[in-house]
Amino acid sequence: MHFPMRRPRRLRRSETIRRMVRETVLQVDDLIMPLFVVHGRGIRREIPPMPGNYQLSVDQLTREVKEIAALRIPAVLLFGIPERKDAHGSQAYAKDGIIQQAVRAIKDSVSDLLVITDTCLCEYTSHGHCGVVEEGVVTNDPTLELLAKTAVAQAEAGADIVAPSDMMDGRVGAIREALSSSGFEEVAIMSYAAKYASGFYGPFRMAAESAPQFGDRRSYQMDPANAAEALREVAMDLEEGADIIMVKPALAYLDILWRVRTEFDVPVAAYNVSGEFAMVKAAARLGWLEEEQVMWEILTAIKRAGADLILTYFAKDAARLLRQRE
Ligand code: PBG
Repeated sequence: MHFPMRRPRRLRRSETIRRMVRETVLQVDDLIMPLFVVHGRGIRREIPPMPGNYQLSVDQLTREVKEIAALRIPAVLLFGIPERKDAHGSQAYAKDGIIQQAVRAIKDSVSDLLVITDTCLCEYTSHGHCGVVEEGVVTNDPTLELLAKTAVAQAEAGADIVAPSDMMDGRVGAIREALSSSGFEEVAIMSYAAKYASGFYGPFRMAAESAPQFGDRRSYQMDPANAAEALREVAMDLEEGADIIMVKPALAYLDILWRVRTEFDVPVAAYNVSGEFAMVKAAARLGWLEEEQVMWEILTAIKRAGADLILTYFAKDAARLLRQRE
């Protein structure tokens, strides 16, 4: 049947009818807000390319998470910036490391907010790589032990979910085993399973002070040209014990997200990364884009492509908008 019998515009005539036939509906429960934690007191330092996002000291962080919980955002993802960096990133797994302090403080101040910790070494290593460097090479197997120690330290502090973002081979298995043998079999793993070597992480590296001091991350993060490999990465992480898998970045990789969604029956997360956020904010500041509309369209696209969960610096803005529309 076609025109004039069929007229798709009939179902677009009013906001009410559009609402009724809408296929993808964004919810506040889909959102996860990333946060950056620093040592010190009273620090709330805005990250220039990421307006509305801050490096927060623990006291400020507890204020921030109360606001986030009040918006009914279910979870935060924490990144730490240590006071000292060293070759082995020891502040990542130190008992009083910044993330461990932050998790305890959050758990003491809000009860129903889920805490996810990024499990990686790059913010903590002097060379800025995600693994142990030997003779200029980022090694794989020696890194696994340190990642596992980091995950256990985070779980001990009270993390609900650990999120390995390093892209070492075998890290999910190593972390799962370490968590289980330390009595944390209940802690879930959200693995950055298909994480690409992307230019879209630029603003994040300023925020987390984690830019590599030599070379780049292409020997461990994925080549943007590859899709089939993403499916193999996801399959491996699931076999090793991941509970939620992630595709990152989101926007330039919606095809990957869709393929992962159709091939695997597990919760899928997508990371709307710092560069994707910064592009919108910058263009909006110049008056070249309508920020709210574009944000909405981006988040809806990520959900439509298959994400159950969206990690996004827009989480608070989107939650406020959802509340207004209620
Ligand atoms: C750490 C990590 C990165 C991001 C999340 N975890 C940076 C990187 O791999 O260089 C990027 C997040 C973003 O850009 O918002 N490995």
